[in-house]
Amino acid sequence: GIELGKLLASTGYITYDPGFVNTGSTSSAITYIDGDAGILRYRGYPIEQLAQNSTFIEVSYLLIYGELPTPSQLEDFTQKINRHTLLHEDLKRFFDGFPRDAHPMPVLSSAVSALSTFYQDALNPFDEPNVELSTVRLLAKVPTLAAYAYKKSIGQPFLYPDNSLGLVENFLRMTFGLPAEPYEIDPDVAKALDLLFILHADHEQNCSTSTVRLVGSSEANLFASISAGIMALFGPLHGGANSAVLEMLQGIKADGGDVAHFVNRVKNKEKGVRLMGFGHRVYKNYDPRAKIIKTTADQILAKIGVSDQLLDIAKELEETALSDDYFIERKLYPNVDFYTGLIYRALGFPTKFFTVLFALGRLPGWIAHWREMIQDPQTKIGRPRQIYTGEKARDYVAISER
Ligand code: ACO
Repeated sequence: GIELGKLLASTGYITYDPGFVNTGSTSSAITYIDGDAGILRYRGYPIEQLAQNSTFIEVSYLLIYGELPTPSQLEDFTQKINRHTLLHEDLKRFFDGFPRDAHPMPVLSSAVSALSTFYQDALNPFDEPNVELSTVRLLAKVPTLAAYAYKKSIGQPFLYPDNSLGLVENFLRMTFGLPAEPYEIDPDVAKALDLLFILHADHEQNCSTSTVRLVGSSEANLFASISAGIMALFGPLHGGANSAVLEMLQGIKADGGDVAHFVNRVKNKEKGVRLMGFGHRVYKNYDPRAKIIKTTADQILAKIGVSDQLLDIAKELEETALSDDYFIERKLYPNVDFYTGLIYRALGFPTKFFTVLFALGRLPGWIAHWREMIQDPQTKIGRPRQIYTGEKARDYVAISER
């Protein structure tokens, strides 16, 4: 493939592939997807087995280092992360500058970008100990940054991390806890969030991961590349879909819960009306993550005692779409985000914050891809070509004559 690409380039021909529907930008050993069969594997392990048996921290290790950790490797990895959860006090002050109603995604991206100003001694992408340190710093600090972005938005004081807790538990406490008040972690809530993070942890060359790789291909540091990835995830066609699904369900509810009417608007291609949480560039079958989440949504909502009319609307919407020719012909199935918003909502997160949770889950995948890209001898700076459609050469016209 690579040789053929070089040969084609030397002939002056360009592959025109808007949206990179059929362009392989890299080889990768991290995640395998078979979109027709609905298969997803991290480093060869089926997502169903990881969801059932693993933890987010273990999956992070697996994605980044390629193998499941031994008990001592896992302990070492966990301890390293726990040692780095604190933020520099000056970084905390960044949060004061943002408007209170700022969306937490750009706040998070800015804060991650700012990490490269605090750790200038460890930015060389080819220095392995530096990369290792940046990896640990990101995994440890991004949950703290995310929790602070939340606290800022509701005007509550920041809570320092409690490193006797696990990663997800610590994040929950920093997000929902209050100073001087004990915060009891509900193990069902922590388990649900851990599962959602596992399901989001990687998805090969999606928009944000490709962004991380593209930015990194210029040899920009890991913090800079991840910051760009967070912004790519922000868009409603990517990570922003989880918030958009909930807004869509709320809209249907506000309109009297008429699911058929909404589906007709989608089929009539009304401007800006899509069935959010449906469809995927790669999956032309049920997204395996959506399958896991659907059962989990029922269990979790029942366990934490929340009954949600929006869940009923979601189920009706899914049933209606799955038996409708418009969606069948286009192979549109629920994707990972169709049910996640309902779970996040039940766990107490505001809609604006959902995409931040996606970013927390996707972080180890981005890091794994950046590291793979940096180590790959085939990596070149990413530089797509174009088909020029502008004016032919013409002469400059003086302003007095225009
Ligand atoms: N609702 C209605 N119609 C849809 C949808 C949808 N959600 N998705 C695709 N279609 C239709 C398109 O209108 C198009 O129809 P046409 O052939 O009659 O023009 C056809 O299906 C193909 O769609 P494309 O937009 O060409 O598919 P593409 O691969 O470019 O887009 C995407 C994939 C962006 C995910 C799209 O399905 C979508 O917008 N979904 C809704 C947003 C969403 O849920 N995003 C999350 C994706 S998963 C993730 O990032 C975690």
